[in-house]
Amino acid sequence: MTDRYQTFTRTPLGRTLVKNLGLPDPTPLPRWTEGSAVIDGQVVFGAIGETDTGKAIQALLRDIGASFSTAAEGVASSTLRPKALVFDATGATSTADLTSLQRFFSPLIRQLGTAGRVIVVGRTPELSATPEQQIAQRALEGFTRSLGKEVKRGATVNLVYVAPDAQDQLDSTLRFFLSAKSAYVDGQVVRIGTGQLVGNDPAAPLAGKVALVTGAARGIGAAIAQTLARDGATVLGVDVPQNANDLRKVIAKIGGNELLLDVTAIDAPQRIAAAGADLGGLDIVVHNAGITRDKRLANMRTDTWDAVLDVNLRAPERITAHLLESGGLNEGGSVIGVSSIAGIAGNNGQTNYATSKAGVIGLVQALAPRLADRQLRINAVAPGFIETEMTARVPFAIREIGRRVNSLQQGGQPVDVAETIAWFADPASAGVTGNVVRVCGQSMLGA
Ligand SMILES: NC(=O)c1ccc[n+]([C@@H]2O[C@H](COP(=O)([O-])OP(=O)(O)OC[C@H]3O[C@@H](n4cnc5c(N)ncnc54)[C@H](O)[C@@H]3O)[C@@H](O)[C@H]2O)c1
Repeated sequence: MTDRYQTFTRTPLGRTLVKNLGLPDPTPLPRWTEGSAVIDGQVVFGAIGETDTGKAIQALLRDIGASFSTAAEGVASSTLRPKALVFDATGATSTADLTSLQRFFSPLIRQLGTAGRVIVVGRTPELSATPEQQIAQRALEGFTRSLGKEVKRGATVNLVYVAPDAQDQLDSTLRFFLSAKSAYVDGQVVRIGTGQLVGNDPAAPLAGKVALVTGAARGIGAAIAQTLARDGATVLGVDVPQNANDLRKVIAKIGGNELLLDVTAIDAPQRIAAAGADLGGLDIVVHNAGITRDKRLANMRTDTWDAVLDVNLRAPERITAHLLESGGLNEGGSVIGVSSIAGIAGNNGQTNYATSKAGVIGLVQALAPRLADRQLRINAVAPGFIETEMTARVPFAIREIGRRVNSLQQGGQPVDVAETIAWFADPASAGVTGNVVRVCGQSMLGA
């Protein structure tokens, strides 16, 4: 769906009104296109002391061919318009070290380019060596979340916590956050742990992998199917028989496989496992199929309640359990849930939907530690307002508020959710598990 207001703000009259009336001024966000560099522009790197994490970050910047300088080299010249500011804060061992954040960012932040990136890398607070370090590291969250609300022109700010000795796992995550693939991911906190070191081709990270995508006929699911196929995966797309035509079109474009079924069917887990086995077993499972049936709880019928819980939560739970028990998920496999900011913040008229989507977060939290020693991972995205048929049905006034009440002042695109899922699915993200990442432009709703 097009955002007419955003289009209007790009016209001469729109510009005048935005300026004079102080209206929201959403900057069009560039999306990643095939063949483009991870980042196109200057990167400025800063750090608190010299750390192994800092060395890993600089090695990655060299690897992707980024033109970068360190703050120590005196880069804060007025002519510079850096595309990204990357700060290694893992060296902060006490709150005294937090001063370095202000020293680094204050002179540079105004110069950050359009759709710029700020990435702060910290040490996972709960894995800190001392209470003083834990306090300082936890403090970073307040810094990045506030800075996300201050930066303008489509820039984003995110915090990546890395576990001790996990700096070799940073690669896929930094590539994602530096690039236009993370255009609508803002104000997020990600945790990276240790994992197997997987060296794959960043141009086709999912080559040889088989990916199940439920609800693939349209909207976010279709974008996920296309994005995972772009990255080299063979996609098994699932949708209900009523949407067979749409599913066929999506699958034909990407040369994948289709499976028509209702994910709530009693035999759905077995049929999915069988179709996956025919393709050599599943490596990636994306539980995207979802429905809304909004009603205040006082007016909620039992069948309306059950329908939403069945599709959004019980089906992912049952399918995942069966795949794990039957060996339908290959070693190194990755399960990805699709939650929602409604599952974090709650929403008027959505007790059923928010329960199901909070349950998806529960699924991640329950399974991530249990799957870790089997080298399997589980994460979830929690989209905010994404421009799809689902949100096109939202009444105009609520839709307009949904679009604007975030730091980027616009709705996201299905591809923004899909790119985040592709980063989770990447075998090089072996250290990324147990995360729930909001794709919401730093929505004011919820955490
Ligand atoms: N659009 C948003 O702003 C938004 C925000 C937060 C979360 N989400 C979540 O993202 C996911 C996709 O949303 P969307 O906006 O693309 O929705 P959509 O309604 O456009 O598409 C959902 C797809 O899932 C399929 N589906 C529904 N029930 C199914 C079932 N029982 N079995 C198999 N397939 C089924 C539908 O046929 C459809 O093709 C959902 O889980 C939704 O809750 C969307």
